[in-house]
Amino acid sequence: MHTRTRVLVTGGAGFLGSHLCDRLIADGATVLCVDNFFTGSKDNVSHLIGQTHFEIMRHDVTFPLYVEVDQIYNLACPASPVHYQNDPVQTTKTSVHGAINMLGLAKRVRARIMQASTSEVYGDPEVHPQPESYRGLVNPIGPRSCYDEGKRCAETLFFDYHRQHALQIKVARIFNTYGPRMHPNDGRVVSNFVVQALRGDPITIYGSGEQSRSFCYVDDLIEAFVRLMKTTPDFTGPVNLGNPGEFTMMELAQLVLELTDSKSELVFRPLPIDDPRQRRPDITLAKQALDWEPKVALRDGLTETIRYFRHLLAR
Ligand SMILES: NC(=O)c1ccc[n+]([C@@H]2O[C@H](COP(=O)([O-])OP(=O)(O)OC[C@H]3O[C@@H](n4cnc5c(N)ncnc54)[C@H](O)[C@@H]3O)[C@@H](O)[C@H]2O)c1
Repeated sequence: MHTRTRVLVTGGAGFLGSHLCDRLIADGATVLCVDNFFTGSKDNVSHLIGQTHFEIMRHDVTFPLYVEVDQIYNLACPASPVHYQNDPVQTTKTSVHGAINMLGLAKRVRARIMQASTSEVYGDPEVHPQPESYRGLVNPIGPRSCYDEGKRCAETLFFDYHRQHALQIKVARIFNTYGPRMHPNDGRVVSNFVVQALRGDPITIYGSGEQSRSFCYVDDLIEAFVRLMKTTPDFTGPVNLGNPGEFTMMELAQLVLELTDSKSELVFRPLPIDDPRQRRPDITLAKQALDWEPKVALRDGLTETIRYFRHLLAR
C-alpha cells in the first residue's frame, strides 16, 4: 500500500528534469528519475541521491521500461541544436521510440503522462505569436528535422493513445527556458552571454542585436508542469508554456554585463540565415486553463543563473 504519488521523470538528470525532481520531492512525491546521461548529469541531482523517496536509474527510453508509477513526465531528449544534431538518428529514436515506450508503460499501469514538447513544432512560423491552433511550417528533411519532426510525431502518438486507449495525456509546448543547471556549451544565447561575460571574453551579437527573444525562468516553467499534470482528464493540451516578455539581444547583453560586473566588449557578427526576428509565446490558453503566468523577472532569473555559472566555472 502506498500513499505517496509515485512519479517517473524521464530525462530527470537534465536541466529541466532535475528542477522537476526537486519540486516533486518537495511536494511529497516518490520520484524515479530515469536518464541515460547523454546531456544530463548526476551532478544535477546529487543533492537528492540518498533521500528515501528519490531513486535514480540509468536507462535509455528507446528501450521499454517496466515500473509501477502513477504519473510520468516524459522529458528525455537532447534539447539544443549542438546536442540533438550530434546523433540525429538517436534524437528521432529518443522522441519517437521513447514516446511509444513511455505511452506503453502509461497504458499498462494506467498512469497520467505529460510530454515535454516544444515551440519548435511550429517550425519557421508565418504567424506571431503562435497560438496552439497554428499548425506550423516545418522542413521534414533539414538538419533540425530530427528534433522538430521527432517532437511532432511524439505529439501524434500522445493523441492517438488518448483516442485509442483513453489514456490521460498532457502535452506542453515549451518555449525558451533558462536557469541554473543549463549546459555551459549548448550554444543558447543566455548561457553563451553569461559564460562569455564571466570569462571576460567578447560577447558575440549576431546582426545588430535588435532581434528579440523571450525567456522563461525555470521555476515558472516547473510550476506550469505541476499545474498541467493536475488538470482534469478532459484537458490534454497542447498548451504553450513560456514567458511572453520580449527582450532584444542588445538588452540581454547589457543586463548580463551589468549583473556580472564584466568588462567584456560586444562584438558583432553577421546574422545567420533564417534567424527569426522575433519569437514569443501566446500563453492565453495556459493563463485560462492553468491559472498560470510567469512571475520571475529576467533580472532576478539571470542573477540566479549567473550565480550558478560562476560556481561552475570556478570548479
Ligand atoms: N530548455 C528549453 O528551453 C526547452 C524548450 C523546449 C522543449 N524542451 C524539452 O524539455 C525537455 C528537457 O530539456 P532540457 O532543457 O532539460 O534538456 P537536457 O538536455 O538538459 O535534458 C534532457 C535529458 O534527457 C536525457 N536523455 C536524452 N536522451 C535520452 C534517452 N534516450 N534516454 C534517457 N534519457 C535521455 C539527457 O541525458 C538529459 O538528462 C526535452 O524534451 C526538451 O526537448 C526544453
